[in-house]
Amino acid sequence: MKSQDFLPNITDYKLIESGEVTQKASSNIALIKYWGKVEVQIPVNTSISYTLSNCYTKTKVKFKRKNTQGFEITVFLDGVESVQFKEKILNFFEIAQPFIPFIQSYSFEIHTENTFPHSSGIASSASGFAALALCFVDIEKQLGQIYSPQFSSIKASFIARLGSGSACRSIYEGLVVWGNHYAIKDSNKRYAIPYPYEVHAVFKNFCDTILVLEKNKKKISSTKGHELMNTNPYKEARIHSAQENAKELISVLKEGDISTFGKIVEHEALSLHAMMMTSDPAFILMHENTLVCIKKIWKFREASGLPLYFTLDAGSSVHLLYPQQDKTKIEAFIQEELLPLSIENSCIYDKVVFN
Ligand code: DP6
Repeated sequence: MKSQDFLPNITDYKLIESGEVTQKASSNIALIKYWGKVEVQIPVNTSISYTLSNCYTKTKVKFKRKNTQGFEITVFLDGVESVQFKEKILNFFEIAQPFIPFIQSYSFEIHTENTFPHSSGIASSASGFAALALCFVDIEKQLGQIYSPQFSSIKASFIARLGSGSACRSIYEGLVVWGNHYAIKDSNKRYAIPYPYEVHAVFKNFCDTILVLEKNKKKISSTKGHELMNTNPYKEARIHSAQENAKELISVLKEGDISTFGKIVEHEALSLHAMMMTSDPAFILMHENTLVCIKKIWKFREASGLPLYFTLDAGSSVHLLYPQQDKTKIEAFIQEELLPLSIENSCIYDKVVFN
């Protein structure tokens, strides 16, 4: 589908006086990382992610008819008015406006809350923009657009992408693909789709424990990081490698090959950070304890033979990935060896469960 396919039929709009919708969307963790984009929010490579269960955003949008020009919004984050978040949403409105033109005709009161702490290092933009996009598609349906369930999800994913790239994957549960890939049918650069192939049972019930290693906000935004990919000397090699990794993951997911899964996922995480270190200007988002943690995981795996792997986002937190079936032994190790590296000796236990 092309961008034009997402323009609503304005003559179908029946502008009601006011209304309210509520939606929720979970955060996601990329196995194959989205890093680098071209205009507008089009990824340079395919990404594949797991949508989490416990870490989610719930958003309520109240809308009321207005006759003035321009956008009118108030945003509340956990009950407190947030100017910072309002700015982000206004930027998003500018880009998304042709696809949800009714936003000109209403004033919005947006109430959003996350189940995970702000300092947790889990990006709230993915779940936040996904929940907001789902709300806007709901409103559009209340205003008379007739969308099938499948098109509703695709449109929400398309709209969420305009807010934050990774948000387009948070529309679906389980494994999700975003970005064209010749080996993945129906994959699309403008929106995400549920992973379309067979997945072994072991990957349908997977744990993600998030170890937060520092409280401070990251110094370079993902958006800036994506931009720096344009001049990275290893850009083409990175894109090629991500596409190859995505392809290799297809048979791995089908066969239930946990060790190759771990190899690919760790390679993706380390390549992502290698791209940051080889950007100009270079930047490092890992914390000293990120490395300590990685080395401990490798040592533990070597000694125990248990399938504990890691991945990293654009930050210092470590996502510990392991199958549900090995939870008891692996969590004992996490408690004993890794928790002392985290802030406040705590972590967030999350999981991915789907059919
Ligand atoms: C490292 O989606 O946060 O988490 O599109 O600029 O909002 P914007 O970037 P964002 O980038 C996420 C990058 C990543 C990898 C991933 O989630 O695929």
